[in-house]
Amino acid sequence: MNPQSPPKNPSYCIGLMSGTSTDAVDGVLADLAAHPIRLLAQASLPLPLPLRDEFLALNAPGPNELHRSAMAANALADCQAAVVQSLLAQAGLSAQDILVLGTHGQTVRHAPDAGYTVQINAPARLAERCGIATVADFRSRDVAAGGQGAPLVPAFHAACFGTRGGRAVLNLGGIANLTLLESPVRGFDTGPANMLMDAWAQTHLGQPFDQDGQWAASGCCQPALLASMLAEPWFARLPPKSTGRDLFSLGWLHAHLEKFTHQGTPFAPADVQATLLELSVRSIADALQRHAHHVQTVLACGGGALNQAFMARLGRALAPVALRTTADEGVPVQAVEALAFAWLAHAWLQGRAACLPEVTGARHATIAGCLYPA
Ligand SMILES: Nc1ncnc2c1ncn2[C@@H]1O[C@H](COP(=O)(O)OP(=O)(O)O)[C@@H](O)[C@H]1O
Ligand SMILES: [Mg+2]
Repeated sequence: MNPQSPPKNPSYCIGLMSGTSTDAVDGVLADLAAHPIRLLAQASLPLPLPLRDEFLALNAPGPNELHRSAMAANALADCQAAVVQSLLAQAGLSAQDILVLGTHGQTVRHAPDAGYTVQINAPARLAERCGIATVADFRSRDVAAGGQGAPLVPAFHAACFGTRGGRAVLNLGGIANLTLLESPVRGFDTGPANMLMDAWAQTHLGQPFDQDGQWAASGCCQPALLASMLAEPWFARLPPKSTGRDLFSLGWLHAHLEKFTHQGTPFAPADVQATLLELSVRSIADALQRHAHHVQTVLACGGGALNQAFMARLGRALAPVALRTTADEGVPVQAVEALAFAWLAHAWLQGRAACLPEVTGARHATIAGCLYPA
């Protein structure tokens, strides 16, 4: 931040998120000093198809990755800058009104057990384009301290929704992650939410996702395939734990499907989709039962909360636990994760350690991120 020109609104912050679904850059502009936090603008820009394809390709080893990653990072920063412009225009504000911007970037490798996690991002380019102080690289320090570098959002969920106990936040992005709103806050990934269903819908319908879960609802869950997938050892691991495309990929799904090809009756694609929906539902319900049996209310957020078939099935599986959404608490489901990165950037400026060791398994709490001045 330029010390000669302090922002007029010292608590207006922007958060930008592009999650494992690799679908879009989601952004929010919020007043973080207001109680409850006041959302001033919300915008989302789908990733251009070639960039989406490049990110998906960069999840696996390939040629000339350094150059391709750098070019993809620049293209992402340009999308992010467009989202920032849209947020500012909506709110009738300018860059000088904004204290700080937090940008997560696009995860292409997440290997905390090997000592690294990689988010493709170009925060210097974004700070240059927008003229706003930018915080990025939120995960590395926690990984350096022996943690999973994930989930990052529980501290924010606790600040936003309180810790009176008995409630949890369930983010249904590409991966599902759960925050137990209690003291101390706990949180962990439960496995896939939309990622496998999206990949299967892309393969068989040529669509990036199964609108409202209609295709899944037209199929029948296949118990043997479901049991095979639920036997994945990752599900039985105790928290802290996190996951991503490194594990739950189309390759992982094909390995399970291949176990059944000798039976001569390959599953109908809609039945596989129904089984993938059930896999997400069951792994979430099992995680709650094993690690959070005292929770009475789950607040869902993320794009999966817009999938009617998913939410209906999840509601039945969780009963008598009540399934609601963060929108019931005044925060739109697609705003929560982006808001978390506005909050984390603000926490950086305040010197607050927002990476919780009880969540990530790190040796100590760390300040998440790195600042690129305006
Ligand atoms: N109307 C809808 N019907 C079904 N699924 C939806 C709908 N809207 C969003 N989604 C799902 O939400 C995903 C995006 O959610 P998001 O919270 O952005 O995840 P991430 O953080 O992983 O990017 C999409 O890929 C899609 O699977
Ligand atoms: Mg997304």
